[in-house]
Amino acid sequence: MEILIAADRIHQRVVELAEQIERDYQSRPVMIVGVLTGCLVFLADLIRRLDLPVRIHLVQASSYRGTATSAGALQLRADTLPDLAGREVLIVDDILDTGQTLARVIETIRGRGAAHIRVAVLLRKKERLIAPVEADYVGFDIPDEFVVGYGLDYNDEYRHLPHIAVLREP
Ligand code: IMP
Ligand code: MG
Repeated sequence: MEILIAADRIHQRVVELAEQIERDYQSRPVMIVGVLTGCLVFLADLIRRLDLPVRIHLVQASSYRGTATSAGALQLRADTLPDLAGREVLIVDDILDTGQTLARVIETIRGRGAAHIRVAVLLRKKERLIAPVEADYVGFDIPDEFVVGYGLDYNDEYRHLPHIAVLREP
C-alpha cells in the first residue's frame, strides 16, 4: 500500500495540535469525547501530550459501509455519556469525511448540555464534506482517497499501522 503520511509526520503534527489545544483551553478543564473505534490511536497519542485537566469519555459510532467509499446507516451509542452541563467538550475523531457522523455526535453532546464544543480530527477530506461541521483542529487535509492505518480501518483491518496508507479497491 502507498504511504500517504509517514508515522514521524503524524507524531510531529500531533505535538503541534496538542500545543494549539493547550493554548486555547488555558488550563481550563476539558472533557474529551472520543469517537470509537477510529479515534483510538490518535486519542491515545494526543492526550499524552496535553498538559490540561482532562476527563475522557468514549462514544461508539459505526456506519455500515457497503464499499470503501459509501457509508450506510449510522449507529451512535452514547448512552454512557455523563451529564455535560456547563462543560467544555473536545470531540476527537479520526477523520472528517462527509461530516454526518460528527454532526450526530455534536447534536448529541449539545443535548447533554455542553457549554462549548470543539472538534479535533486527524484527517479531513474537504471535497466530501456535506454536513455543516467545522473542525477546530485538523491534522491533515487529504485528497478523496480511502485511507487506513493509525486507527482507520477497512473491515476492521489495518488499524494498527503506524502510518496512513491509501487503500485502493482491487
Ligand atoms: P462521515 O460520517 O462521512 O464523516 O464518516 C466518518 C467516519 O467514516 C469516520 O469516523 C471513519 O470511521 C469512516 N471513514 C471515512 N473515510 C474513511 C477512510 O478513508 N478510511 C477509513 N474510514 C473512513
Ligand atoms: Mg469513525
